[in-house]
Parts: sequence; C-alpha cells; structure tokens
Amino acid sequence: MKTVQSWKKMRKISMLAGGAVCALSLQAVQAQDDQITYNTHVAKILNENCVVCHQAGGIGPMQLTTFEQVRPWAPLIQMRVANREMPPYAYDHGIGIQDLQADWRLDQDEIDTVVAWVNAGSPLGDADIVPPVAEVRDVNAWNFAPQYGEPNLIIASTPLDIPANGNDMWSKEYVPSGLAADRCIKAIQVKPRGDARAVVHHANSSVFVENEFGELERYGQLTEYAMGKWGEVPSEGVCRTLPANSQVLWDIHMFPGGVGATAQGEMIKDNVVEIGVWFHEEGYEKTAYKQDLSLYGLREGYEADELIVPPHGYLMTQGFHSFDHPVRIDSFQPHGHLRMNAASLEVFYPETGRTEQISQISNWSATWHHSHLYEPDAAPLLPAGAVLVIKQWYDNTANNPNNPDPDQWVYGGSRTGDEMSHAWIAVTHLDEDGFEKMVAERKAKEERAVAGND
Ligand code: HEC
Repeated sequence: MKTVQSWKKMRKISMLAGGAVCALSLQAVQAQDDQITYNTHVAKILNENCVVCHQAGGIGPMQLTTFEQVRPWAPLIQMRVANREMPPYAYDHGIGIQDLQADWRLDQDEIDTVVAWVNAGSPLGDADIVPPVAEVRDVNAWNFAPQYGEPNLIIASTPLDIPANGNDMWSKEYVPSGLAADRCIKAIQVKPRGDARAVVHHANSSVFVENEFGELERYGQLTEYAMGKWGEVPSEGVCRTLPANSQVLWDIHMFPGGVGATAQGEMIKDNVVEIGVWFHEEGYEKTAYKQDLSLYGLREGYEADELIVPPHGYLMTQGFHSFDHPVRIDSFQPHGHLRMNAASLEVFYPETGRTEQISQISNWSATWHHSHLYEPDAAPLLPAGAVLVIKQWYDNTANNPNNPDPDQWVYGGSRTGDEMSHAWIAVTHLDEDGFEKMVAERKAKEERAVAGND
C-alpha cells in the first residue's frame, strides 16, 4: 500500500473531502459546456496549485484566492503558466524518470485550460456555479501536518538579528537534538520561522554524536534546506536514522536585505530556523534498509582551480560516483547559485557501456530548490559498480536573467555570487538479496500491468 501521497494529490483529496459547494442547475451546465470560465474550470486549478503560496502572508507576491484577485493578473498568469514557470517546479518533461512525489507541475490539459480561458477574455462564468472555496492554509504551518500532524521533534537554531543591509552572513552552531533513543525519520522539514523566510538562503544540518573519548564525531547529514524547498519524505521501508543524544550542527546562510520583493530594506529580528522531524514507530529499523542523504559532486579542490566561469562565458562540470554494493537512488537535488542554469543525473553501466538518463532540469534557477523524490517503484536500482554522472551547466552571459554581473570572473565558493557544483542525493544501501528481490518485484509488477492491458 502506498502511504506517501504527493502534496498535490493530498490537496486534491482534501479539497474533495472538504465538500465542493456546487449549486448548478441543468440549464446552466448546458450553457457552460463549451465555455471555459473561472467558476467552471479555472478556480479549481488555481486553488489546488497556486493558492498554497499566493494567499495572504504567503511567499507569492499577490493573492489568487478569488476571481476579483485573479482577474487583473490573467495575462501574466497565462504567460507564467504557459512557460511552465508557475507553479515553480523546473523538471524536464519527457526525459528520464517522470514519476515523482510532490510534483508541482501542472498537467498539459490544465495549462491548456488556463491559456484558453485568458484567450477568451478570462470570464467569470455563471454566477450560480460556485467553485470550491480556496483552501487557505497557515503559511507558518508545517507542510506535513495534514498527513502526519505536528512534528515529533522540533530543533530550533538560536535567534539572531539580520540587518536590513550588508553582506552575506553565516551562522554555525551546535544544538542538542534532545532525542533519547535512535529513531527512523518518517518526514523532515526545515522551516525559517516567520519573516526569516525572506533572508534564509539555505540551512544545512548535520548530526554529531559523542565518541568514547567524549569528543563530537560527525555521524552524517540530517537534511538540507534552500529557499522554496518543501521537505523530505524518505520512502517506506528505509530508515534514515537520527541517533540518540546527538547534536545538530547548523550551517545557516543568510542574505541581509531579503530576497526579491519580500523584506527588502527591513531588519529581521530574532531570525530562527527550525527543523521539524516526524518519526516512524520504534523498532522500525529492524525491517528497513539504511538510507542516507549526502552531497555528491565536484567538492574537493574546486574552490580555486576547477570551477571557474569566465566573464560572458559558460562552463559545464561533471562529477562521478560509484558504490561497491547495490543501491537505490531515492532523490536528486542539484545545487548551484546565480550562474548555474541546468543540471542532469545519469547512470553509466560499465559492463554494457550504456548510459541512462535519470533526471534533467534545463531551466534551473537558484530561487527554487527542489529535492526531486522518485516514486519508490520508479527509483533507479543500481548494481554495484554502476556510475552516477552529475552534470551542471553555468551561464555567465547577460542572457542569464539571474546574472547580477556578467563582467565578473566567477569562482567556486560559498557566497551567493560564487558558484557551487554538487547535488544532494538520498541513497538506500542494499545487499545483493535485497537488490535481486526489488528487481524481481518490479519485473513481476510490469508483467502484471502488461497482462492487465491485454
Ligand atoms: C511554491 C509557491 C508558489 C506556487 C505554488 C505558485 N507560485 Fe506564483 N509565485 C511565487 C513567488 C515566490 C513568486 C515571485 C517570484 C517569481 O516571480 O518567481 C511568484 C510569481 C508569480 C507570478 C508573477 C508575478 C509578477 O509580478 O511578476 C505569477 C503570474 C504567478 N506567480 C502565478 C502563479 C500561478 C497561476 C500559480 C499556480 C498555477 C502559481 N503562481 C503557483 C510562488 C508560488
């Protein structure tokens, strides 16, 4: 049974359960049949896919909860939707794995509906047809609360004031997790509290435990946040452990002055970032494979000599990684800054010489960081020795709309104006038996599907 529903699916279900108030007469339905109107078609699409951000206090610059609010924006909505810029989820269609959890992309028929509606003059439609009311949520609420309730554990950073102007700021500190026993993570979200959303560029968190000499030793990565990220749900049957008595090392990168239109020129007081963790029941690890989230890519040495983008020029980087045991690749999240504009993940199989496309993001932008979570049935299963190939592209010309200054030489580094080249990848570590079993299960499922279609 699939228990992890995508965000979009969850919302669609909860909207249906919420009871659409439909007062339509037969004549009205017939009259409206061939016309696309706000009330009949468009409100539903916007409510399910846009209002989550475009509501009072949301991160979107305007509200899209009613016809009156939507109407003046219709031409811009048409453009952003037709270009697949809104909802913000850049991930190529038709290349690699398309079965993703928490996939924000609209279906082509939804895009066509919005486009046709605006071309028709964005009509309201029959006033008797009342569209489902937009589900307005608390923008400070936890994203997984509808499925899992409040987090079992919240780990907060120490409050810090961020000035209205100035250079990039970093905060690194240890905070105790307060956990008494090892637990497997069911879901995890990093959430800047309140106005902090506007100034926190990214926040990494790693886990440390005391060794036998009483020294803190790195246990692994906990999670990673960058602007616009929703959260992570490790798939069923895997255990990503948060160990007992651990310390969490925060590494928070802040950008005084805010981002885009939000909080520009404002001081942010008591900036706090929180990690919410939901756990599986105790003992879950006994039947689960270990999963970890790690950074892969051109990490060592790029600071000085490997990652250099010339003024008005381009760059492409490649990173490789292979494992000495079989694995399943559960998620992919490329990372770069203002010049990076594309990324891809491939797998090379040395035995056959074949390369397989896994994911491609041709229109990558640092405004939105998504961890692309593969549906468990689609997640790549790699035999030992298969090679992950991570490619990233950089555009330092004036054609890149995110580029603040094409005259600069850009080097690898941590500041927003520097570049990075790596990807966060969640990996489930299997043994030969587990691998064979998963491959066989998939094959059986495919055969059943084919038989069912006959
Ligand atoms: C995850 C949050 C989120 C979702 C979901 C979302 N938006 Fe946005 N939207 C934003 C943010 C933030 C901006 C401002 C930054 C930008 O333009 O990229 C924006 C900008 C826009 C703009 C441009 C406004 C301007 O002044 O240029 C339009 C139009 C828009 N969104 C429409 C939509 C529509 C229509 C949907 C749903 C189909 C949608 N958005 C879904 C967050 C979101």
